[in-house]
Amino acid sequence: MIKILTVIGARPQFVKAAAVSSVFAEKGSDVQEILVHTGQHYDKDMSEIFFNELHIPKEKYNLNIGSGSHGDQTGRMLSALEKVVMDEKPDMLLIYGDTNSTLAGALVASKLHIPCAHVEAGMRSFNRMMPEEINRVVSDHVCQINFCSCDVAMKNLANEGRAHTGVLVGDVMYDCALKFAGLAAKLYAPFEKFQVKAGNYVLMTCHRAENTDDPERLKSIINAAGKLSAEMPVLFPIHPRTKNFIEKYSLTVPETLKLVPPVGYLEMVLLEKSAGLILTDSGGVQKEAFFYDVPCVTMRDETEWVETVECGWNILTGASYEKILDTSLNFLKKKPAKSGRAPYGDGHASEKILAGIKNYLKK
Ligand code: UD1
Ligand code: UDP
Repeated sequence: MIKILTVIGARPQFVKAAAVSSVFAEKGSDVQEILVHTGQHYDKDMSEIFFNELHIPKEKYNLNIGSGSHGDQTGRMLSALEKVVMDEKPDMLLIYGDTNSTLAGALVASKLHIPCAHVEAGMRSFNRMMPEEINRVVSDHVCQINFCSCDVAMKNLANEGRAHTGVLVGDVMYDCALKFAGLAAKLYAPFEKFQVKAGNYVLMTCHRAENTDDPERLKSIINAAGKLSAEMPVLFPIHPRTKNFIEKYSLTVPETLKLVPPVGYLEMVLLEKSAGLILTDSGGVQKEAFFYDVPCVTMRDETEWVETVECGWNILTGASYEKILDTSLNFLKKKPAKSGRAPYGDGHASEKILAGIKNYLKK
């Protein structure tokens, strides 16, 4: 039996872990998985709903770290996680993505000389002002296995002298997209609830620190989305971070912009699939737009998911009012031609991750 200690803590990590944990739980997998939730995300609609809907096994430990500045939050994670790892003595740690919970897992494993595997490794924005970029680079450099979603990620690792750690498996969020879309359609009817018509609304998310923490950028984004909502309903499940900053900066949200609390993954999948357009700064939502053939406007100056841009389904606008508005209106008038590209694997990344871990530990 292999003992794997998985560290998760933020919304996108629950989605990613759902795919892999279900493979670990299969009969004959030979894996005992210990789930550790750092508590980075703690609201019911940012955490618990994902465990319930996606049947993620309940965590054995919740470190209850909560929010804080980067140093404070990550520091408390390091201290609490180290104790758990010393007690559990796993064969390997498993971490996902690029949050502070990812970084804490990578650092604890490396200091305790326990091998660590990083899922969604090798992604780069080449913008070191992003906290996520620092978390990715450090994690990839201390992990023994870096599971990559795409060729670009493998190349990024190679450029940093880490080619020997890279294993191309595909993207676990694509596994989830295939696995849960059918279930979502059986359980939810979100269009009535949110009073939108399938195909006739824009779905928006926004939470990236570079957008929320800067009053000018946030104002420009809210105003552009507000103007767009005069053309077509814009549904905006709002991240608590963004809600807090809108209040802090006393920004006026146009009445036509439909702000709703964060939705669960299954409702989100349905809302994404039937949107006329997705407006976002999320990493995961950009990819999901691509999986479901929905045009995407990304309110960032760069992206890690360059394939979605290269094929014409994703356009970067930064936080520019004019660019967000013009690009969105153009996309609503004309969808891009089908790309036919499948850069993110075959929907079996999770099984390949299990095989990769076994292969590493055998050596
Ligand atoms: C974090 C990740 C980001 C990821 C995002 C996914 C880091 C550095 N950032 O950003 O990469 O894209 O998660 O959603 O790890 N809050 C609540 N309730 C919650 C969680 C957060 O109210 O359950 C509020 C708090 O005011 C908190 C703020 O949101 O200070 C930010 O939360 P935090 O976890 O620090 O970063 P995110 O912006 O969520
Ligand atoms: N998501 C969700 N409900 C929401 C917003 C996002 O279920 O209200 C899902 C989304 O479908 C994707 C993941 O959360 O699977 C992305 O997380 P987020 O945008 O918070 O983080 P990022 O991917 O940018 O790190």
